[in-house]
Amino acid sequence: MKPYSRVLLVTGSGSVKKFGIYDEVVKELEGIEIFELSGVKPNPTLDSVYQGIEICRKNNVEFILALGGGSVIDAAKAIAAGVVYQGDVWELFLDNSKFTGALNTGCILTIAATGSESNKNSIITNELTKEKLGLRRDELKPQFAILDPKYTYTLPEKQTAAGIADTMAHAFEQYFSPTKDSYLTDRMAESVMKTCIKFGPVLLNEPENYEARAEIMWASNIALNGILSCGKDTDWASHMIAHELSANYDLTHGIALAILFPNWMEQVFDETRKWKFEEYTVNVWGLSASEAKTSIIKTREFFNSLNLPDTLTKVSIDGQYFEQFAENVVRRGRTGSFKNLTKKDIISIYRRSL
Ligand code: NZQ
Ligand code: ZN
Repeated sequence: MKPYSRVLLVTGSGSVKKFGIYDEVVKELEGIEIFELSGVKPNPTLDSVYQGIEICRKNNVEFILALGGGSVIDAAKAIAAGVVYQGDVWELFLDNSKFTGALNTGCILTIAATGSESNKNSIITNELTKEKLGLRRDELKPQFAILDPKYTYTLPEKQTAAGIADTMAHAFEQYFSPTKDSYLTDRMAESVMKTCIKFGPVLLNEPENYEARAEIMWASNIALNGILSCGKDTDWASHMIAHELSANYDLTHGIALAILFPNWMEQVFDETRKWKFEEYTVNVWGLSASEAKTSIIKTREFFNSLNLPDTLTKVSIDGQYFEQFAENVVRRGRTGSFKNLTKKDIISIYRRSL
């Protein structure tokens, strides 16, 4: 196979340059013509995707290399699809079935959180319409992903913690499911959760603890590389509820989930779904099945122990648009499988989170 000779290098708002990873990577790419798109923001926006597509088309770029976190990787995937698509790339996010192919991508990961480095998703925000939507296609899976835990040493505490909350949330979305015959997959999800619970707090005091960084990086990858959904109906309602907030308030994804998830648990907990909370309580928290509801308190306490905000009020969000957000979630049709949420349920989850 002919090696790629024209590559688009996608980066974020400067951390990789500040901390030297960029220089290391560029050195490795010697002999390859590099074009650059920098400045991709967290909750990546459509404007940087358009910019990237233009650079690729103008310069006949053959391959896209993402150097950064989920935002940079998601932007790279959207660009990869947009270069091939003849229409406006946003149409692909509105209707995934219009996808016509993509350039190949690769990534060098600098934050453990989304699993985007090994999955088929790209999540992009349209700032004009205030929509945060996903494009999900197997062809968007990167050709390779380099995960060096040392690259995550420089993360600010808030981002380390938000990444861990996102990893927990990914495990929850696939674990809390109506599927009952998924023994092995569920034990793997519990291991991801236990790894976050064991090593997350270590990182707050020791950001350069290699073992903890490595375990968290591996956990975040497993949490959303497809393995935890094997043979399962998955939920994802909490992510949809969170995306409404991030699209409108530019709220860090993992923080939105840390606030919302315990409230989603409160909302869906009842006699018919208690069995799954019992499993979670016994296997993850080491409590007895009769303390099933305590696992929700434990979950909240865990996020608190990572110094994450636990209410929307603390991140300056009030309730004025909850009705509209709930309506959007229902309209998009991803209202969950563990419990299929009604608009009223969703509003209640937002209100509990205030
Ligand atoms: O922009 P730079 O300067 O790189 O700074 C970033 C950013 O401010 C910083 N950072 C990353 N690596 C660093 C670092 N700072 C210091 N040292 C490092 N080594 O961290 C901040 C957050 O980065 P971001 O890429 O936004 O984080 P994350 O990986 O959590 O990605 C979040 C985005 O991914 C989407 C989220 O919705 C959000 O838009 N998701 C993507 C998914 C997927 N593709 O499968 C699934 C997820 O559920 C999620 O929706
Ligand atoms: Zn997530």
